[in-house]
Order: sequence, then structure tokens, then C-alpha cells
Amino acid sequence: MRRRRSKIAESARLLVRASQLRPQLAIVLGSGFGPALERVAVAKTISYAKLPGFPSTSVQGHAGKLALGTLGGTPVVVLCGRAHYYEGRSMAEITFAVRLLAKYGVRDLLLTNAAGGVNERFRPGDFMRLSDHINFMGESPLRGPCPPGLTRFLDLSQVYDPMLGDLLDKAAKKVRLRWHRGVYLALSGPTYETPAEVRAFARLGADAVGMSTVPEAIVARHLGLRVAAVSCISNQAAGLSPRPISHDEVLATAKEASRHTGALLEEFVRLYGRS
Ligand code: HPA
Repeated sequence: MRRRRSKIAESARLLVRASQLRPQLAIVLGSGFGPALERVAVAKTISYAKLPGFPSTSVQGHAGKLALGTLGGTPVVVLCGRAHYYEGRSMAEITFAVRLLAKYGVRDLLLTNAAGGVNERFRPGDFMRLSDHINFMGESPLRGPCPPGLTRFLDLSQVYDPMLGDLLDKAAKKVRLRWHRGVYLALSGPTYETPAEVRAFARLGADAVGMSTVPEAIVARHLGLRVAAVSCISNQAAGLSPRPISHDEVLATAKEASRHTGALLEEFVRLYGRS
């Protein structure tokens, strides 16, 4: 724990030295969302491998680098790719980036991911703003020693910030996305679900299912960051379509949608800069 904290501090110092920018907003680009980076005026790129303690990612479609820059004049730090629990990483490892961002001085965090649509009204290429989540990953990222000064039992009545969510709604309307609000259910993966599981999750109130985001959101809330999250619905969850699910299809849909994601993020950051 102490060693991890010193790695976080070391990596944060590296970021501070890398550029004069002091972004308040961080954006994590998930599967297939990488092209959205094209909209950012990048001042400095740092490979995750250069940051002490930062876990690498082995997943196709995840770049593994951090960019400091501006979007519509507002400073942002953009993480291209994330480490996943299903890669065998620990909860501490997959939330390292969020702890680093908080140490670096970020106040607000926008998480993006690709997810399977559980809600029968959702179509591939739609987007969903997370209104809440169900953590079925089987572990909390806060399990274990609690750092001094932080609460042991974190209230999760409102993980996703309404003000940031409102900015997302406005941005989505402006760029004309097929847009929903809903509940994201997180699983450890790496298998996709069975049709019976998807039927069960729908009954439990889930609208989309995925393998990330929730641990990052919980740690961010623990550290006092405001959080917003968006899923690109890359496929209908198992059993809702006659076709089997493939990672290639997930990536292809998310990549196709990432043209819109770029516009969404740009408009979101523009509104954020004015708020
Ligand atoms: N299930 C779980 N995770 C996912 C899916 C899915 O159908 N699509 C993209 N990520």
C-alpha cells in the first residue's frame, strides 16, 4: 500500500513536469474510442510504460498512452486505454490511473466504455449515459486497508454527478446522438454473458452490461472526484440478437461510433469549460 502510494506520487510528479497544463478534467477512452483523441490539441503524450506503477494493457483496441492537451481551449488529460480486471489485474492495479489523476489534481472524470445492450430498445451505435450501476464484479476496489483521511464506508447513493450528466445530455442533443440514460451492470469478464444471465440482469434493472468503469467510478468517488460515464452500445447482449458476440464486432461498432464520440466529447468539454 505504501509502495503503491509512492508510485502514484512519483507518476504524478512526472505529469506535473511534462507540461504547464493543469487540467481539472480527465477523460478515459475505452474500447474503440481512441480516435476521439484526434479532436484534442495534444501538447504531450506519455506512454503508460513510462509511468511508475501504471499497469499496461494487453487488449486489442486499447492504446496504452496518456495525452495532455486542450479541447476547445479547455485543458484535458486523456487516457487512451485502460487495464481490465479480466486481464488478471488486481482492483488496485485497474484503479491506479484514477488515483494518479486525483493526485495530479484532476477534479472531474469522464469514463467511456463499450457495452452490450440489455435493454431491448437499445441498438448498436446508440449511447447511454450511466445514471447508476450494479457492481457484479465480485469485489470492491475499496476492499483492504483504508488510506488515512478517507471514509471507510463510502456512500454510493449518487455515483454519477447530475451536473456533469446534464452537460452530457446537452452535448448529445447538440450532436444528435441516439441517446439513453440507464443502469450499467459490471461483470469481471472475460466471457460474454449467457442469454439466461442477460434475461436475469434485465429483471434486476440493468440496461447495459460491460467489464469496466465501475471500479474506477467507485475509487474516483472515494477520492472526492465528480464522475460521469458514457457507454457506446456496441452490440445487443447475448440472446437478444441471433448472432454470437465477437470482440471484432464490438470494436468495429465502437470505432464507427467514435466519430460521434469525438463530437460528443468536444461539445461536452466546451460546455464544461463554460460551466
Ligand atoms: N457484454 C459484456 N461486455 C461487453 C459487451 C457485452 O455484450 N459488449 C461490449 N462489452
